[in-house]
Amino acid sequence: MNTAINTDNRDDVRRESAAALTPEIVAHIEVCTRDEHAHSHLIGILHRVQEHFGYLGAEQMDAVAQLLQVPTAKVTGVATFYHFFRLAPRGRFVISVCMGTACYVKGAERVVERFKDELGIQFGETTSDGLFSLEATRCLGTCGLAPVAMIGDKIFGGMTPDQVPGLIEKHVKLWDEEKKKQV
Ligand code: FES
Repeated sequence: MNTAINTDNRDDVRRESAAALTPEIVAHIEVCTRDEHAHSHLIGILHRVQEHFGYLGAEQMDAVAQLLQVPTAKVTGVATFYHFFRLAPRGRFVISVCMGTACYVKGAERVVERFKDELGIQFGETTSDGLFSLEATRCLGTCGLAPVAMIGDKIFGGMTPDQVPGLIEKHVKLWDEEKKKQV
């Protein structure tokens, strides 16, 4: 009689990993693993994960590592290396300040510094209340309005540092109104 205990928990790990993603992403990873160079699909897979979840959480990165059979350190290494990957959820309002040439020349950096001071965060960070995220962006195609910031899908042109507190205040009020409507 075979009394050996089965210590192979690969199926459990696979099931848990799949549960951290979506069926579509899991199916895509499965297709990628059939490729001789499966590892080369890592960036594309992480893009899909971020597109769905809004950011790359530790649980999702671990799941990708398990299913693609690559070390977790490689996945987190890639995720932290490229600026377009986000490792934390974004705030309710994403403030993108254009750092393109026209905006830079017209003083975008001073506007950015004011946003950083007022919000107490750096580029790529989110305020602790989850309200604002601050990001740098390339040319938004509205150079005539430089310097330009975008909040959500709204463009704010001719920005000056002194306009920053009012703009933040306006969005805090918007958030208060949203919350009231939810009650
Ligand atoms: S450089 Fe800022 S909008 Fe073009």
